[in-house]
Amino acid sequence: MNVPDRNTLKQTLKQRRQNLAEKFSDKALFWSGCAPSRNFPANTFPFRASSHFLYFAELPLKNAAIELDNGKLTLFMDNPSPESILWGGQKPSRDKIAEEIGADAAYPVSDLANYNASAATIAVPNPITYQQQCEYLQREIPEPSQAQGKDLDLIQAVIGLRLSHDESAIAQIRQAAGVSMEAHQTGMKATAPGKTEAEIRAAMESVIMAHNQTCAYGSIVTVHGEVLHNEAYHHTLQSGELVLADVGAESPGGWVSDITRTWPVNGQFSATQRELYDLVLAAHDACIEAVAPGVEYQDIHWKAAAVITEGLVELGILQGNVSDLLANDAHALFFPHGVGHLLGLDVHDMEDLGDLAGYAPGRQRSRRFGLGNLRLDRALQIGMTVTIEPGFYQVPTILNDPETREQYQNMINWERLAQFSDVRGIRIEDDVLVTGDGAEVLTSSLPCECKTIEEIVNARQI
Ligand code: GLY
Ligand code: MN
Repeated sequence: MNVPDRNTLKQTLKQRRQNLAEKFSDKALFWSGCAPSRNFPANTFPFRASSHFLYFAELPLKNAAIELDNGKLTLFMDNPSPESILWGGQKPSRDKIAEEIGADAAYPVSDLANYNASAATIAVPNPITYQQQCEYLQREIPEPSQAQGKDLDLIQAVIGLRLSHDESAIAQIRQAAGVSMEAHQTGMKATAPGKTEAEIRAAMESVIMAHNQTCAYGSIVTVHGEVLHNEAYHHTLQSGELVLADVGAESPGGWVSDITRTWPVNGQFSATQRELYDLVLAAHDACIEAVAPGVEYQDIHWKAAAVITEGLVELGILQGNVSDLLANDAHALFFPHGVGHLLGLDVHDMEDLGDLAGYAPGRQRSRRFGLGNLRLDRALQIGMTVTIEPGFYQVPTILNDPETREQYQNMINWERLAQFSDVRGIRIEDDVLVTGDGAEVLTSSLPCECKTIEEIVNARQI
């Protein structure tokens, strides 16, 4: 399906409201949020509407709220002021917006002051808007993870809707995935010794901007792939290093993609890099192969752990029996995060709700090293989009920790590991839609085999 036109979208929004009404019969209020000011009111931090608001209204409206009441939609939003038109240009009126999103009624925001404060809501992770929520509803709105009563019922109803995506959502995730794949190809072709991480990031993000999309999260573009969420871009790329780029685009409606690729700066993986890269790729492929409705995502995580452990034993880095190594979390020394997460209107979709969305009712995060970073522990269902992103990292704070070295002294061959010192971090991440008969990899047009990655890097024009 192509990205939906306005009428189709209006129908989709109506359907989503009806779906909510079937799960939640009370009134619900969702706030869009605001753009906090940096130093004076018109100089703001970038605005991103709350994802729950976007799900039901699609438009990234600032300072707006919607009430959903048994499928009926009421918009609360102010008309643009003359001052805002002077500086920001003409904007659609409240009535025009109401018509676009299919609202049944529309009022100024100040009308929320006379509002029957009995509605349920979900706290927005923005202190200014959160304050407004509490003031208008005349009560302390709980953090989502502490919600009770009707707020918790609303959260559960929204999770029930947002776990599986409708056609319109999937079309927009595809749109974001397409742009993200192009950005990665551009990043690979922009890579060469002597360039900086910042230059590669700029090349990648310029593709996203040129498509009038935004970054779905802070881009990770680094030769220090062992820093899982690296935010520094100052290193100069050296021949022999690997670039790890975790960069994803967000469609105008807020639907996102999340892709990671790892490639050699000089266009050729060393023998040691290739061995570990192929191991991570084997884990990636095995996990994707396992994705299907009804499959437990935690089992997919353990599949990645098992493939990595077996491979590290074959390479002589780990030593011992694979089951014992897994039971001792030896794999987590090199793969300390979960195999992926939900994807939708956010990267790590619905993590503003704590673990309420990621973990099935009655389940809690493990305290085990590595497994405690698993963000999704549910049975997969048709229409879910998840990432599959195994990795191998040499994180100094883990591997140099005296207690760790003591505990794992018989499980790790440190001399053998030292031969792989040209690998700091490798991650391969794709976006996978759960379908009726298995899975569709939405980002499969972006290659991940060593040879093809090398060919793309070597196609650079510099
Ligand atoms: N793209 C960053 C992450 O998945 O955590
Ligand atoms: Mn991810």
